[in-house]
Amino acid sequence: MSTRLVGRGFFRFSWRRRGTEGTRRGQATTGSAGERRVILSGVQPSGVPHLGNVFGAMGTWRQLMRHGDTRGETRRDTRDSLSMFCVADLHALTVTPDPRLLRRRCRITAAALVACGVDPAQSALFLQSQVPEHTELSWILSCLTTTARLSHLHQWKEKSRGRAELGSLGLLTYPVLQAADILLYRATHVPVGEDQAQHLELTLDLARAFNHRYGNYFPLPQAVLSDFPRIRSLQDPSSKMSKSQLPTSTTSSTSTTSSTTTTSTSSPSPAGRPGRRVSLGSVLLCDSDAAVRLKLRRAVTDSLPGVSYEPARRPGVSNLLALHAAALGLRHPGLVPGGGGGATATPRGYKEELAEDLLRLVVRPLRSRFLRLMAGESVPPLDGGGGSGGGGLTWTGSDGASDGGKEFGSCEEEEEEGEMGEEEEERGDVGGDLSQWGFLGRVLEEGRERASRVAVHNLREVKRLVGLPP
Ligand code: AMP
Ligand code: TRP
Repeated sequence: MSTRLVGRGFFRFSWRRRGTEGTRRGQATTGSAGERRVILSGVQPSGVPHLGNVFGAMGTWRQLMRHGDTRGETRRDTRDSLSMFCVADLHALTVTPDPRLLRRRCRITAAALVACGVDPAQSALFLQSQVPEHTELSWILSCLTTTARLSHLHQWKEKSRGRAELGSLGLLTYPVLQAADILLYRATHVPVGEDQAQHLELTLDLARAFNHRYGNYFPLPQAVLSDFPRIRSLQDPSSKMSKSQLPTSTTSSTSTTSSTTTTSTSSPSPAGRPGRRVSLGSVLLCDSDAAVRLKLRRAVTDSLPGVSYEPARRPGVSNLLALHAAALGLRHPGLVPGGGGGATATPRGYKEELAEDLLRLVVRPLRSRFLRLMAGESVPPLDGGGGSGGGGLTWTGSDGASDGGKEFGSCEEEEEEGEMGEEEEERGDVGGDLSQWGFLGRVLEEGRERASRVAVHNLREVKRLVGLPP
């Protein structure tokens, strides 16, 4: 099968910068009519996804999968696009050395992705390590960059915490593997959060270097940002909501940071059982009702009166409004009805209202789907029966999961479900045999087959171009 060569610059990458032209926020259109869109993204299996992941990345995955762009206005024929989503388990080896925890987190992450609307019928969801062509291409690409280039990347500096000599080689080179994840499928659209900007720039550099040296083969992929590309920590609005405070091994335990608290052993906390760690900065997609309320109650705001969207002056309150807008399916925090209560509201009252809306519109429906998937059951597509309609994206689905997929009425059940939060991942070994994972296992097997077909074909072409026997 011959491979169509794609001219350099076919998709112009343009990262959104404040006040500059060329924003791609909320836009994802193909470069020319008739070209096939290939959407690819990945997520590290580093814990239970939080609302930053959901609003910053997975929402865009859903919109691109269903529509011609993230505004949801153009429904395209899905036959002219390919959607690939990977659980980046090889990436996780850089930070999760515990095998049991890694297996469990892979299952949690895959369940979370399907819960959040990745539709297995319309896309390939797979484990990165199950398609060995990723690492093979990564090697070829690694010969096109320098260690100096990689050591300047923000995430390397942050994660090696200034002690570069102690950081593993994997941590340094994983952006090259990420570029391979993208280029292996000749992706054209990469929906990610803002924190991935540098990695996408590296991917573009590598694609250009390859095309320059060996002949045009890779399209230049375009990053696609959601309307909420950076949801901030509830405890520290100057940093992003992240999973990084979570443990990296099954034996890790009670470390306490400003945003992590350990509940008392003598009095059960409202967030769960005694002794349970709660990361207050991030709302996880399977947090209990009590945990969500607690996290919102403790969210850092300010002492100014009222509620208003002023990101520079009021980062905490503005972040709450961003969460609210995302939950309501609005495109901008300024559109939240009544401005979140405006000048007459108190931040405290607003936090309570927001907690209830987050629960009703996002956490309960997604948690319900997530739990069913973790139990091996199937769930209907989130967008079944018409989906989210216009530009706004909602999370309640059409399967009644928002209030009926599983009941969360009683306190006992809430406590049970509450265990599915951070402690969820510390339970027993789920095993690595996908045939034991029920519906989710079948989804991943099928996804692997579909991804492999494309990967094998494209890598063969790459090898031919670089002079290796295919
Ligand atoms: P990670 O959990 O770091 O593997 O991220 C998975 C996806 O979620 C990536 O596309 C990230 O850019 C995105 N993401 C992570 N944290 C946030 C956040 N706080 N706000 C918006 N997007 C995020
Ligand atoms: N590195 C990304 C993150 O930390 C996850 C990721 C892995 C990814 N492979 C990818 C994102 C490919 C986009 C495309 O969030």
